[in-house]
Amino acid sequence: MSLKICKYGNPVLRKKASPIEKVTDEIRVLADEMLQAMYEGRGVGLAAEQVGRSEAICVIDIPAQSDCNEQGDRDNPDVGMPLVLINPEITDRSEEAEIREEGCLSFPEIYANVVRAYEVDVKFLDRDGNEQNIHTKGLLARAIQHELDHLDAILLVDRMSPVKKVALSGKLKRLSKKTKQSL
Ligand code: NI
Repeated sequence: MSLKICKYGNPVLRKKASPIEKVTDEIRVLADEMLQAMYEGRGVGLAAEQVGRSEAICVIDIPAQSDCNEQGDRDNPDVGMPLVLINPEITDRSEEAEIREEGCLSFPEIYANVVRAYEVDVKFLDRDGNEQNIHTKGLLARAIQHELDHLDAILLVDRMSPVKKVALSGKLKRLSKKTKQSL
């Protein structure tokens, strides 16, 4: 039985994550279950809050064909996928930013342009509990910023422009209402 994805309107999405003190087998099972739920939802990233959990963990898998710049070169050829990020922290970000359309498994059928740093450095524990530091750019850097926002209880709706938020207000209200009725 796979984990259910919590949608906008579920109060769990507004809870900040707590650091994981020790990377145990239970955490590794959670990571695997989160990856499974992410693949089933056809997403490229998923954070613990989205499956109703409070641990500081997120998973990301950017397919190789999406990890390319406009010239068709790989953005992050040295980063192995899928990524399990435990207690992740952005340690540096480029001033160069990029605006691109973003979606989220907690906001089905809702997409909005979001400005993100083009490159970020991230420090995290991997599934073996070892500290890793990686430099990322493009879609991967965007996914990391999106998933770390979830761990800080910040959602896609908070990152879209006020104009877009007004344009989507009916859809957002319906989604939130539907979610609350199902809780
Ligand atoms: Ni999301």
